[in-house]
Amino acid sequence: MQSLPEGYRAIVFGATGGIGSAFVKHLGADKRCSEIIGLSRSSRPSFDLRDEASIQAAAETLGGEFHLLIDATGFLSDEMIAPEKSLRALNAETMAKLYELNAIGPSLLMKHFSKRMPRNERSLFATLSARVGSIGDNRLGGWYSYRAAKAALNMMMKCTAIEVARTRSQSVFASLHPGTVVTSLSEPFAANRERLTPEQATEYLLGVLDGLGPEESGSFWDYRGNRIEW
Ligand SMILES: NC(=O)c1ccc[n+]([C@@H]2O[C@H](COP(=O)([O-])OP(=O)(O)OC[C@H]3O[C@@H](n4cnc5c(N)ncnc54)[C@H](OP(=O)(O)O)[C@@H]3O)[C@@H](O)[C@H]2O)c1
Repeated sequence: MQSLPEGYRAIVFGATGGIGSAFVKHLGADKRCSEIIGLSRSSRPSFDLRDEASIQAAAETLGGEFHLLIDATGFLSDEMIAPEKSLRALNAETMAKLYELNAIGPSLLMKHFSKRMPRNERSLFATLSARVGSIGDNRLGGWYSYRAAKAALNMMMKCTAIEVARTRSQSVFASLHPGTVVTSLSEPFAANRERLTPEQATEYLLGVLDGLGPEESGSFWDYRGNRIEW
């Protein structure tokens, strides 16, 4: 990451995920990066998106400042939960779970870890959203809860960007769409579609982040570097 100070420190949340693990690998190979920490439910310290105390404890345990923070967590479906194809399928518990894992938990990561961003140096905080979270780009409908949770995440990211800029004028926050990527999250829905490898997606995304200035903080980008409408 050429735009970050030499010896920058990085942290990836969701380091066990398809995209998160590729970020860790990629940054581990960057000679300018002095330390890359991958956090997950099984790391030490660990965190769980559904447990604010664990997020706070991780932020307090890890000393020092981070110039690059990437939230690669998220949830779409499991054996019990599938994206809704119609209003009939809406279920309060499912909606709450999607919101908890894609909007609330990531917002708590921003709450506790933005304090770890340097005050007088450039820093980047990226959260993995999804193009389907764009309201303006929604032409097909469906996937109600996932779409709504990512739209909420984008708003939380935007508010955070505005607040943090008051004390960290060189900070940049961004929501990112990684493309359709070969991971277990996309497997049930895109196995027959052309997909990026996690390595390709993370290389593109790091390139996009490297080029964003503080004046662009609080925006939504795809892996090609195109802005996505809200
Ligand atoms: N893959 C795609 O095509 C695609 C497209 C658009 C957007 N995205 C977004 O990109 C992000 C990463 O997706 P991915 O494809 O890499 O998915 P993935 O392989 O399923 O990874 C998801 C990550 O989230 C973590 N996570 C889930 N629940 C958690 C919890 N309660 N506490 C802490 N961590 C938790 C998982 O940790 P565990 O290992 O502990 O479960 C895992 O590290 C997501 O936000 C997704 O919405 C992906």
